[in-house]
Amino acid sequence: MLAVKDLEITFSEKNSIFKAVRKVSFSVQAGEILGIVGESGSGKSMTALALTGLLPPEAKVCGSMSFAGKTMHFEDNSQWQGLRGSKIGIVFQDPAACLNPLKTVGKQVAEPLILHKGLTPKEAEVETIRLFSALGIEPAVQRIHHYPHQLSGGQQQRVMLAAAIACKPMLLIADEPTTALDVTVQAQILRLLHEYVHNHSAALLLISHDLGVIAQLADEVLVMCGGTIVEKGSVYQIMQKPLHPYTKLLLASLPRLDAPLKLPLVANEGLTAEGGCVFAARCPHYRAICLEKEPPTKLLAEGRQTACHIL
Ligand SMILES: Nc1ncnc2c1ncn2[C@@H]1O[C@H](COP(=O)(O)OP(=O)(O)OP(=O)(O)O)[C@@H](O)[C@H]1O
Ligand code: SF4
Ligand SMILES: [Mg+2]
Repeated sequence: MLAVKDLEITFSEKNSIFKAVRKVSFSVQAGEILGIVGESGSGKSMTALALTGLLPPEAKVCGSMSFAGKTMHFEDNSQWQGLRGSKIGIVFQDPAACLNPLKTVGKQVAEPLILHKGLTPKEAEVETIRLFSALGIEPAVQRIHHYPHQLSGGQQQRVMLAAAIACKPMLLIADEPTTALDVTVQAQILRLLHEYVHNHSAALLLISHDLGVIAQLADEVLVMCGGTIVEKGSVYQIMQKPLHPYTKLLLASLPRLDAPLKLPLVANEGLTAEGGCVFAARCPHYRAICLEKEPPTKLLAEGRQTACHIL
Protein backbone atom coordinates (compact mmCIF):
# COMPACT_ATOMS: atom_id res chain seq x y z
CA MET A 1 0.00 0.00 0.00
CA LEU A 2 2.80 2.42 0.94
CA ALA A 3 6.36 2.23 -0.35
CA VAL A 4 8.86 4.94 0.56
CA LYS A 5 12.05 5.24 -1.47
CA ASP A 6 15.23 7.13 -0.58
CA LEU A 7 13.59 9.66 1.72
CA GLU A 8 16.15 12.28 2.72
CA ILE A 9 15.47 15.32 4.91
CA THR A 10 18.10 17.97 5.50
CA PHE A 11 18.33 21.25 7.40
CA SER A 12 20.84 23.97 6.63
CA GLU A 13 22.47 25.39 9.74
CA LYS A 14 24.84 28.34 9.27
CA ASN A 15 27.46 26.88 6.93
CA SER A 16 26.66 23.23 7.52
CA ILE A 17 23.99 20.80 6.43
CA PHE A 18 22.34 18.48 8.96
CA LYS A 19 20.80 15.26 7.69
CA ALA A 20 17.81 14.39 9.87
CA VAL A 21 16.76 11.45 7.65
CA ARG A 22 19.20 9.70 5.29
CA LYS A 23 17.98 7.69 2.30
CA VAL A 24 15.28 5.81 4.16
CA SER A 25 13.26 3.18 2.25
CA PHE A 26 10.52 0.90 3.55
CA SER A 27 7.06 -0.37 2.76
CA VAL A 28 3.88 -1.27 4.62
CA GLN A 29 1.00 -3.45 3.43
CA ALA A 30 -2.75 -3.27 4.04
CA GLY A 31 -3.63 -4.83 7.39
CA GLU A 32 -0.04 -4.50 8.65
CA ILE A 33 1.27 -2.60 11.66
CA LEU A 34 4.77 -1.29 11.06
CA GLY A 35 6.55 0.01 14.14
CA ILE A 36 9.29 2.62 13.93
CA VAL A 37 11.45 2.70 17.02
CA GLY A 38 14.58 4.61 17.91
CA GLU A 39 16.07 7.00 20.43
CA SER A 40 15.13 10.67 20.60
CA GLY A 41 16.33 12.59 17.53
CA SER A 42 16.68 9.49 15.34
CA GLY A 43 14.36 10.89 12.67
CA LYS A 44 11.06 9.13 13.44
CA SER A 45 8.83 12.21 13.50
CA MET A 46 10.54 13.79 10.50
CA THR A 47 9.77 10.61 8.55
CA ALA A 48 6.11 10.77 9.63
CA LEU A 49 5.83 14.46 8.77
CA ALA A 50 7.29 13.86 5.30
CA LEU A 51 4.62 11.22 4.62
CA THR A 52 1.90 13.73 5.41
CA GLY A 53 3.42 16.81 3.76
CA LEU A 54 3.75 18.54 7.14
CA LEU A 55 7.51 19.09 7.36
CA PRO A 56 8.63 22.53 8.58
CA PRO A 57 9.25 24.92 5.66
CA GLU A 58 13.00 25.08 6.37
CA ALA A 59 13.36 21.32 5.76
CA LYS A 60 14.68 20.24 2.37
CA VAL A 61 13.22 16.90 1.35
CA CYS A 62 13.81 14.51 -1.53
CA GLY A 63 12.82 10.98 -2.46
CA SER A 64 9.53 9.47 -3.53
CA MET A 65 6.70 7.36 -2.24
CA SER A 66 4.07 5.22 -3.84
CA PHE A 67 0.73 5.26 -2.03
CA ALA A 68 -2.33 3.30 -3.13
CA GLY A 69 -0.82 2.87 -6.60
CA LYS A 70 0.11 6.53 -7.10
CA THR A 71 3.72 7.76 -7.19
CA MET A 72 4.37 10.99 -5.34
CA HIS A 73 7.47 13.12 -4.89
CA PHE A 74 8.15 14.51 -1.45
CA GLU A 75 9.28 17.86 -2.89
CA ASP A 76 5.78 18.53 -4.27
CA ASN A 77 3.69 19.77 -1.33
CA SER A 78 0.43 20.15 -3.25
CA GLN A 79 -0.16 16.37 -3.44
CA TRP A 80 -1.07 15.90 0.21
CA GLN A 81 -4.09 18.20 0.31
CA GLY A 82 -6.61 15.61 -0.87
CA LEU A 83 -5.00 12.76 1.08
CA ARG A 84 -4.36 14.11 4.57
CA GLY A 85 -7.38 13.53 6.80
CA SER A 86 -9.01 11.50 4.04
CA LYS A 87 -6.87 8.54 2.90
CA ILE A 88 -4.09 9.20 5.42
CA GLY A 89 -5.08 9.77 9.06
CA ILE A 90 -2.66 11.21 11.60
CA VAL A 91 -2.48 10.98 15.39
CA PHE A 92 0.22 12.98 17.14
CA GLN A 93 1.64 12.83 20.66
CA ASP A 94 0.25 16.08 22.01
CA PRO A 95 -3.52 16.41 21.43
CA ALA A 96 -3.64 19.69 23.36
CA ALA A 97 -1.31 21.27 20.79
CA CYS A 98 -3.13 19.78 17.79
CA LEU A 99 -6.76 20.43 18.75
CA ASN A 100 -8.12 23.93 18.18
CA PRO A 101 -8.94 25.38 21.65
CA LEU A 102 -11.60 27.69 20.17
CA LYS A 103 -13.71 25.00 18.48
CA THR A 104 -15.84 22.28 20.05
CA VAL A 105 -14.32 18.82 19.70
CA GLY A 106 -17.44 17.66 17.85
CA LYS A 107 -16.93 20.30 15.14
CA GLN A 108 -13.28 19.33 14.80
CA VAL A 109 -14.19 15.71 14.10
CA ALA A 110 -17.15 16.61 11.86
CA GLU A 111 -15.06 18.93 9.65
CA PRO A 112 -13.16 16.27 7.66
CA LEU A 113 -16.43 14.39 7.11
CA ILE A 114 -18.00 17.49 5.55
CA LEU A 115 -14.85 18.39 3.61
CA HIS A 116 -13.78 14.99 2.29
CA LYS A 117 -16.94 12.85 2.40
CA GLY A 118 -19.48 15.50 1.41
CA LEU A 119 -21.71 14.91 4.45
CA THR A 120 -24.14 17.62 5.54
CA PRO A 121 -23.41 19.22 8.96
CA LYS A 122 -26.28 17.20 10.49
CA GLU A 123 -25.08 13.90 8.99
CA ALA A 124 -21.52 14.71 10.12
CA GLU A 125 -22.78 15.37 13.67
CA VAL A 126 -24.61 12.02 13.76
CA GLU A 127 -21.46 10.25 12.54
CA THR A 128 -19.33 12.12 15.10
CA ILE A 129 -21.63 10.96 17.91
CA ARG A 130 -21.34 7.39 16.61
CA LEU A 131 -17.53 7.67 16.53
CA PHE A 132 -17.37 9.18 20.03
CA SER A 133 -19.49 6.32 21.39
CA ALA A 134 -17.37 3.71 19.61
CA LEU A 135 -14.21 5.23 21.11
CA GLY A 136 -15.72 5.56 24.59
CA ILE A 137 -15.97 9.38 24.64
CA GLU A 138 -19.17 9.39 26.66
CA PRO A 139 -21.77 10.76 26.95
CA ALA A 140 -21.17 11.33 23.26
CA VAL A 141 -24.24 13.54 22.67
CA GLN A 142 -22.94 16.03 25.23
CA ARG A 143 -19.23 15.57 24.61
CA ILE A 144 -19.44 16.85 21.04
CA HIS A 145 -20.30 20.32 22.43
CA HIS A 146 -17.26 20.45 24.73
CA TYR A 147 -14.06 22.39 24.09
CA PRO A 148 -10.67 20.59 24.35
CA HIS A 149 -9.87 22.10 27.78
CA GLN A 150 -13.02 20.44 29.21
CA LEU A 151 -11.62 16.96 28.41
CA SER A 152 -8.88 14.92 30.09
CA GLY A 153 -5.65 14.08 28.23
CA GLY A 154 -6.91 10.57 27.45
CA GLN A 155 -10.24 11.89 26.15
CA GLN A 156 -8.45 14.48 24.00
CA GLN A 157 -6.27 11.72 22.52
CA ARG A 158 -9.43 9.76 21.65
CA VAL A 159 -10.88 12.85 19.96
CA MET A 160 -7.68 13.06 17.89
CA LEU A 161 -8.11 9.40 17.01
CA ALA A 162 -11.78 10.00 16.10
CA ALA A 163 -10.75 12.85 13.77
CA ALA A 164 -7.99 10.69 12.26
CA ILE A 165 -10.27 7.71 11.49
CA ALA A 166 -13.47 9.66 10.68
CA CYS A 167 -12.97 9.31 6.92
CA LYS A 168 -11.77 5.68 7.24
CA PRO A 169 -8.22 6.26 5.97
CA MET A 170 -6.29 3.39 4.39
CA LEU A 171 -3.15 4.48 6.22
CA LEU A 172 -2.97 5.67 9.81
CA ILE A 173 0.20 7.32 11.08
CA ALA A 174 0.46 7.48 14.87
CA ASP A 175 3.48 9.35 16.24
CA GLU A 176 3.93 8.61 19.95
CA PRO A 177 0.12 8.31 20.36
CA THR A 178 0.27 7.18 23.98
CA THR A 179 3.45 8.75 25.37
CA ALA A 180 1.64 11.33 27.51
CA LEU A 181 -0.95 8.88 28.87
CA ASP A 182 -1.10 6.64 31.92
CA VAL A 183 -0.81 2.89 31.33
CA THR A 184 -4.56 2.17 31.49
CA VAL A 185 -5.49 4.80 28.90
CA GLN A 186 -2.42 3.80 26.87
CA ALA A 187 -3.71 0.22 26.69
CA GLN A 188 -7.17 1.46 25.58
CA ILE A 189 -5.75 3.64 22.80
CA LEU A 190 -3.50 0.82 21.56
CA ARG A 191 -6.50 -1.52 21.50
CA LEU A 192 -8.53 1.01 19.51
CA LEU A 193 -5.70 1.41 16.99
CA HIS A 194 -5.44 -2.37 16.64
CA GLU A 195 -9.20 -2.72 16.17
CA TYR A 196 -9.23 -0.04 13.48
CA VAL A 197 -6.49 -1.80 11.48
CA HIS A 198 -8.17 -5.17 11.91
CA ASN A 199 -11.71 -4.01 11.04
CA HIS A 200 -10.77 -1.86 8.02
CA SER A 201 -7.72 -3.71 6.63
CA ALA A 202 -5.86 -0.45 7.03
CA ALA A 203 -2.12 -0.03 7.48
CA LEU A 204 -0.69 1.54 10.62
CA LEU A 205 2.66 3.23 10.97
CA LEU A 206 3.23 3.28 14.71
CA ILE A 207 6.07 5.49 15.88
CA SER A 208 7.38 5.23 19.41
CA HIS A 209 10.58 5.38 21.39
CA ASP A 210 8.85 2.92 23.76
CA LEU A 211 9.80 -0.63 22.82
CA GLY A 212 7.00 -1.94 25.06
CA VAL A 213 4.36 -0.17 22.94
CA ILE A 214 5.94 -1.45 19.72
CA ALA A 215 6.15 -4.99 21.11
CA GLN A 216 2.42 -4.99 21.94
CA LEU A 217 1.17 -3.91 18.54
CA ALA A 218 3.62 -4.08 15.65
CA ASP A 219 4.03 -6.89 13.13
CA GLU A 220 7.25 -5.57 11.60
CA VAL A 221 9.71 -3.11 13.16
CA LEU A 222 12.14 -0.58 11.72
CA VAL A 223 14.91 0.52 14.08
CA MET A 224 16.15 4.05 13.39
CA CYS A 225 19.44 5.63 14.47
CA GLY A 226 20.88 8.93 13.27
CA GLY A 227 18.28 9.23 10.50
CA THR A 228 18.92 5.78 9.03
CA ILE A 229 17.26 2.38 9.29
CA VAL A 230 19.86 0.20 11.01
CA GLU A 231 17.71 -2.89 11.35
CA LYS A 232 14.36 -4.27 10.21
CA GLY A 233 12.59 -7.47 11.15
CA SER A 234 9.49 -9.01 12.65
CA VAL A 235 8.62 -7.87 16.16
CA TYR A 236 9.79 -11.26 17.49
CA GLN A 237 13.14 -11.05 15.66
CA ILE A 238 13.85 -7.51 16.86
CA MET A 239 12.79 -8.09 20.47
CA GLN A 240 14.13 -11.61 20.96
CA LYS A 241 17.06 -11.85 18.54
CA PRO A 242 18.34 -8.36 17.76
CA LEU A 243 21.38 -8.32 15.49
CA HIS A 244 22.51 -4.72 15.20
CA PRO A 245 24.71 -3.37 18.07
CA TYR A 246 22.43 -0.31 18.39
CA THR A 247 19.25 -2.41 18.69
CA LYS A 248 20.94 -4.59 21.31
CA LEU A 249 21.90 -1.57 23.41
CA LEU A 250 18.48 0.01 22.94
CA LEU A 251 16.86 -3.16 24.32
CA ALA A 252 19.43 -3.44 27.11
CA SER A 253 18.53 0.13 28.17
CA LEU A 254 14.93 -0.85 28.96
CA PRO A 255 14.31 -0.35 32.70
CA ARG A 256 13.71 -3.62 34.60
CA LEU A 257 12.08 -4.16 37.95
CA ASP A 258 14.40 -7.06 38.88
CA ALA A 259 17.72 -5.35 38.11
CA PRO A 260 19.45 -2.04 38.87
CA LEU A 261 19.03 0.71 36.26
CA LYS A 262 21.64 0.39 33.49
CA LEU A 263 22.13 2.89 30.69
CA PRO A 264 24.45 1.13 28.25
CA LEU A 265 23.40 3.35 25.32
CA VAL A 266 25.16 6.71 25.44
CA ALA A 267 22.87 9.56 24.34
CA ASN A 268 23.50 10.83 20.82
CA GLU A 269 24.94 14.30 21.27
CA GLY A 270 25.96 15.20 17.76
CA LEU A 271 28.26 12.18 17.63
CA THR A 272 27.11 11.06 14.19
CA ALA A 273 30.12 10.56 11.90
CA GLU A 274 29.79 11.89 8.34
CA GLY A 275 30.59 9.30 5.71
CA GLY A 276 30.76 6.36 8.10
CA CYS A 277 28.32 4.41 10.26
CA VAL A 278 25.94 6.75 12.12
CA PHE A 279 26.52 4.72 15.30
CA ALA A 280 30.34 4.51 15.05
CA ALA A 281 31.14 7.02 17.81
CA ARG A 282 29.06 5.04 20.33
CA CYS A 283 29.47 1.47 19.14
CA PRO A 284 31.43 -0.96 21.33
CA HIS A 285 32.33 -3.04 18.23
CA TYR A 286 33.48 -0.35 15.83
CA ARG A 287 36.46 -0.87 13.53
CA ALA A 288 38.42 1.46 11.26
CA ILE A 289 36.11 0.79 8.32
CA CYS A 290 33.09 1.95 10.35
CA LEU A 291 34.38 5.52 10.33
CA GLU A 292 35.29 5.45 6.65
CA LYS A 293 32.37 3.79 4.88
CA GLU A 294 28.63 3.74 5.36
CA PRO A 295 27.59 0.14 6.12
CA PRO A 296 25.59 -1.31 3.23
CA THR A 297 22.07 -2.58 3.85
CA LYS A 298 22.13 -6.38 3.88
CA LEU A 299 19.02 -8.41 3.18
CA LEU A 300 18.89 -11.55 5.30
CA ALA A 301 16.57 -14.55 5.42
CA GLU A 302 12.87 -14.11 6.33
CA GLY A 303 12.75 -10.44 5.27
CA ARG A 304 15.29 -9.28 7.84
CA GLN A 305 17.54 -6.37 7.06
CA THR A 306 20.59 -4.86 8.80
CA ALA A 307 23.17 -2.19 8.09
CA CYS A 308 26.42 -3.00 9.91
CA HIS A 309 29.93 -3.84 8.66
CA ILE A 310 30.40 -6.76 11.06
CA LEU A 311 27.11 -8.56 10.43
N1 LIG B 1 13.10 22.60 12.38
C1 LIG B 1 14.24 21.92 12.57
N2 LIG B 1 15.46 22.46 12.28
C2 LIG B 1 16.60 21.77 12.43
N3 LIG B 1 16.65 20.50 12.88
C3 LIG B 1 15.49 19.92 13.19
C4 LIG B 1 14.24 20.58 13.05
N4 LIG B 1 13.24 19.73 13.44
C5 LIG B 1 13.87 18.58 13.80
N5 LIG B 1 15.20 18.69 13.65
C6 LIG B 1 16.20 17.65 13.95
O1 LIG B 1 15.92 16.48 13.20
C7 LIG B 1 16.32 15.33 13.93
C8 LIG B 1 15.23 14.30 13.91
O2 LIG B 1 14.13 14.83 14.67
P1 LIG B 1 12.81 13.99 14.93
O3 LIG B 1 11.81 14.95 15.47
O4 LIG B 1 12.43 13.23 13.72
O5 LIG B 1 13.28 12.96 16.06
P2 LIG B 1 12.44 11.80 16.75
O6 LIG B 1 13.10 10.51 16.40
O7 LIG B 1 11.01 11.95 16.43
O8 LIG B 1 12.72 12.08 18.31
P3 LIG B 1 11.70 12.04 19.58
O9 LIG B 1 11.66 10.61 20.03
O10 LIG B 1 12.39 12.92 20.58
O11 LIG B 1 10.37 12.56 19.14
C9 LIG B 1 16.70 15.81 15.34
O12 LIG B 1 18.09 15.82 15.47
C10 LIG B 1 16.13 17.21 15.40
O13 LIG B 1 16.94 18.05 16.21
S1 SF4 C 1 29.00 -0.63 11.27
FE1 SF4 C 1 30.60 -0.64 12.82
S2 SF4 C 1 30.14 1.10 14.15
FE2 SF4 C 1 28.32 0.66 12.95
S3 SF4 C 1 27.10 -0.68 14.24
FE3 SF4 C 1 28.33 -1.99 12.91
S4 SF4 C 1 30.20 -2.42 14.07
FE4 SF4 C 1 29.17 -0.69 15.06
MG1 LIG D 1 9.30 12.47 17.54
